Amino acid sequence: MFSKLQQRWKVNGLQLFLILCTFALGGSLCGYLARRLLISTGLEKNGLWVVLYIIAMTLIWPLCVLLVSIPFGQYPFFKKYLTKVWTRMTRQKSPVTHVAIFASGAGSNAHKIIDHFQNNGAVKISLIVCNNPQAGVLNLAAARKIPSLLIQKKRFYEEDAYLPELARQHIDFIVLAGFLWKVPVTLINKFPNKIINIHPALLPKYGGKGMYGDKVHEAVLAAKEKESGITIHYVDEIYDHGNIIQQATCSIEENETPASLAQKIHQLEHKHYPEVISHLLQATNNS
Ligand code: GRF
Repeated sequence: MFSKLQQRWKVNGLQLFLILCTFALGGSLCGYLARRLLISTGLEKNGLWVVLYIIAMTLIWPLCVLLVSIPFGQYPFFKKYLTKVWTRMTRQKSPVTHVAIFASGAGSNAHKIIDHFQNNGAVKISLIVCNNPQAGVLNLAAARKIPSLLIQKKRFYEEDAYLPELARQHIDFIVLAGFLWKVPVTLINKFPNKIINIHPALLPKYGGKGMYGDKVHEAVLAAKEKESGITIHYVDEIYDHGNIIQQATCSIEENETPASLAQKIHQLEHKHYPEVISHLLQATNNS
């Protein structure tokens, strides 16, 4: 128990002892003062004296431990500790982050992401955006009862980039998962550092316009690379170019084919993409 406390509070044995002494003495002082307060105000005769005593203790306790912590040399620890307790008590319930997934293919990554967040009260996959009416991801959206939006090139690039539809679903964050169109500047400006993509190779190599699906794996194998992998990155105005958030690698065997490599890459994507999204959203919410 003591070693657990030491780890949690990041203190050595002596400091833990002094902290526990402060808690004990601070608590006693608090009890004593609360009692004196009730007696001197005559409230100890009130039928509700237990309730009043608890209220008085709650209000006086922080002051008492802070006071006692000074001679024990633990004032900085208790100042931080009480601030943390106060922040936790007064923190408002964090709002839900609404995520849109942009996908135009089978949607296996979309599937994993939806599964990952399905019981998460803080993150909701609120919209699937797609430019291909035949895409499997639309069936997935229907099966999971997630609204979907089929987009047209003209409006996406030359008009409002569907911002009103995104606003209607309160979208805060956009995840590209097999979305082949370039993201228009209108959208990038509206969601700064809030659009991410996954690429099935180790960028900056094997990226750019036209580099998708098996074309990427064929190029990697033709270059006789020893390893490939995935890149999760922020989206900017240039294809596969924004800052890299995370990469993961897999080895390439002698007899590797584009299909077998694609399978390895998909496994990496399914493992890492939902986790990275989760970390990014947590970091955004805590900042
Ligand atoms: C993934 O390989 C991803 O890296 C790329 O498009 C593919 C989408 O696959 N951007 P799926 O539709 O999620 O199965």
